[in-house]
Amino acid sequence: MKTVITVSLGSSSQDSTFETEFLGQQFKVKRVGTDGDESKAWELLRRYQAEADAIGLGMIRDNLEVGERRIEFKDTDKLLDVVTRVPATTGARLRRLLQVRAIRYTQKTIGSYFNNNHVLFLSGAVNYDMAMAMSDYTSNLKFADALLQTGAPKMLTSLDQLELFARGSKLLGSVVPSTLGAVLPSFTGVKKKLVASEFAKAHVIVGTFEDIKTFGSKKNLEGKTIISSAIDDDRLAWFTEQEVNLVVDVSPMLFDDVVGVNTIEAMILAALETTNEEFSLQDLEDVVRELKITPRLLHPTGKFRNIRRFAFVVHPLSQEYIKKGFPIPKATPKLVMDKIEQIAAHAPPMVYCKMSNIISPTGAEAEGWLISVGGTPKEMLSRNPEFTYRRLLAACKMAQDMGAQIIGLGAFTKVVGDAGVTVARRATLPVTTGNSYSASGALWAAADAMRRMGLVKARKNGKVMAKTMVVGASGSIGSVSARLMAMAFDEVVLAGRTQKKLDWLKDSILEETPDAKVTATTDYEAHLGEMDMIVTSTSGAGKKILDITKVKPGCVITDVARPLDLPPEEVAKRPDVLVIESGEIELPTQCKMKDIGLPPNVIYACLAETIVLALEGRFEVFTIGRDTEWQKVKEIYKLGIKHGMKLAAISGVNGVHSDDDIAKVVELAKEARKTWKAA
Ligand SMILES: NC(=O)c1ccc[n+]([C@@H]2O[C@H](COP(=O)([O-])OP(=O)(O)OC[C@H]3O[C@@H](n4cnc5c(N)ncnc54)[C@H](OP(=O)(O)O)[C@@H]3O)[C@@H](O)[C@H]2O)c1
Repeated sequence: MKTVITVSLGSSSQDSTFETEFLGQQFKVKRVGTDGDESKAWELLRRYQAEADAIGLGMIRDNLEVGERRIEFKDTDKLLDVVTRVPATTGARLRRLLQVRAIRYTQKTIGSYFNNNHVLFLSGAVNYDMAMAMSDYTSNLKFADALLQTGAPKMLTSLDQLELFARGSKLLGSVVPSTLGAVLPSFTGVKKKLVASEFAKAHVIVGTFEDIKTFGSKKNLEGKTIISSAIDDDRLAWFTEQEVNLVVDVSPMLFDDVVGVNTIEAMILAALETTNEEFSLQDLEDVVRELKITPRLLHPTGKFRNIRRFAFVVHPLSQEYIKKGFPIPKATPKLVMDKIEQIAAHAPPMVYCKMSNIISPTGAEAEGWLISVGGTPKEMLSRNPEFTYRRLLAACKMAQDMGAQIIGLGAFTKVVGDAGVTVARRATLPVTTGNSYSASGALWAAADAMRRMGLVKARKNGKVMAKTMVVGASGSIGSVSARLMAMAFDEVVLAGRTQKKLDWLKDSILEETPDAKVTATTDYEAHLGEMDMIVTSTSGAGKKILDITKVKPGCVITDVARPLDLPPEEVAKRPDVLVIESGEIELPTQCKMKDIGLPPNVIYACLAETIVLALEGRFEVFTIGRDTEWQKVKEIYKLGIKHGMKLAAISGVNGVHSDDDIAKVVELAKEARKTWKAA
């Protein structure tokens, strides 16, 4: 039987002795606390080495490495040096290894969990390796080292600042406490409040249980993730009271009794009959892998809430929207409004509203921010794309600072320039235009409307016996809609204003779907009279795009464009044609947010794409550029269903189309067709 004794500077009330099997050997493990008495610890260590195979030293400061600075503690070395006959360890190497593994394990197991989280380290110096690992997933790191050690009322906000502080602080070696208890008496209420308020801002807090308890309360810990170690039942009960969401216990639960990492490292050294000097980091990694040591992910409330965060950029579609957002008199002359519109385009991004309480049937949750940039389509299109890129990148930075994990680009913010490619390349957050779901929503709505109209039939091979057109077919939403429509309909007309782009798209569609019947034309008016369905998704920004008087009676037109390609006065000319406003999406739960000009709980499909990706934890560049992949349209449709998204009630310029409204259009269309002749 091997014997490992841990002498801890911690409380003697947690003393215990137990026997266990470890690495194929029998062990007797004993812990003795000295209640902070270093002389007593020195004496015990001197005595116990005679009866132990290895010694652990608990609740003592590990010698540290922060960047290029090595910090050694005389009192630690003094205690370690008294043990000469057997290996002695504070568990520093194993602790650092386990910390890094805990971050990687949690990130992987829960799925991109730490991406862009706000993480507060009570001591970055003590948890330097963990902070390095965390920096792979987020740049929103804060360290309380300067505040807690020197009293300076300032957080360090990057690893660089932490390293600089460690290099510059001559005192650091003497003031890093094993717990903050040592420095707290000198802490004023203001500084305590400052740390408590940093708790409130963080998503993740890293620290010892004692330190977290010093500053934490239900007010600033509810819903948070805590990374700590040696969490026993009492500690977990305290986290339950504070309604903490997740506790990552870095120290593994290898035995029925909770033991410190120093004890485990001492047991490894004893089992392998080796010393610190002979035992390399690689050896340690091999043992940890063999033992299959994983951190414990504890859910104190019994229900784990996995809340992902998104941001989405919106902008005013016209001067009318600017008037709605600011106290501008309705009767303001056009000349003045033109000036205001120009000034608004230069405005820095700002938060329009927060969106919260979006809960998927899978249990995943999302919340986020709508960030508004000031340019109208007219202003954006009249300037170099770089003007808009700069504002979008500022919005991305703002979103990142707030903790968003993905950002979507609304309406014209992805129409200007290269449809999100440059912004995605330069931004530090994953970007999506949302155009896959916009195309999906448009086709979903169109299919639903055509089914309810009942004027077209399907062939045995599943193809719809109908002719369709996409106006703006070379665009991001238009091109992918055309690809999918070519697979499903008898015939598709690719309409637009640049023949070369349309020809390229036609060739590409025929490669994918060789039996499709495809026409590419800029002279599309002539075809309008034959179409059963039209999708119009241009960036015409209010220009006249198609002559509705030439459209076949009973045609379903899905107007995806914003501003609309078919304004109300045009739609009113043809009561025998069903014009629907793309396919908006209904959220799975009552979302708290400001009005965006849609019915309650209904959002634009491109915003829905951003939310679905957030719910799925897919923090990646999903849709960018003008060559949207049809596979992504299908994928986001399926993911939307998984997360409880529904097609919103089909609506037109005058609101929701009821069954009676649709029946009326069908009746008028049937009547008109009796005399209808396509031009
Ligand atoms: N409802 C929603 O949820 C939603 C979501 C996202 C976007 N949108 C709106 O959908 C529209 C399309 O977005 P997108 O990202 O696909 O834009 P895009 O990639 O820039 O495509 C725009 C298309 O419109 C064509 N076009 C522009 N002016 C035209 C004109 N006067 N006549 C005929 N064609 C014209 C362009 O042709 P060229 O290539 O030849 O220039 C291009 O094919 C925009 O209005 C946008 O605001 C709506």
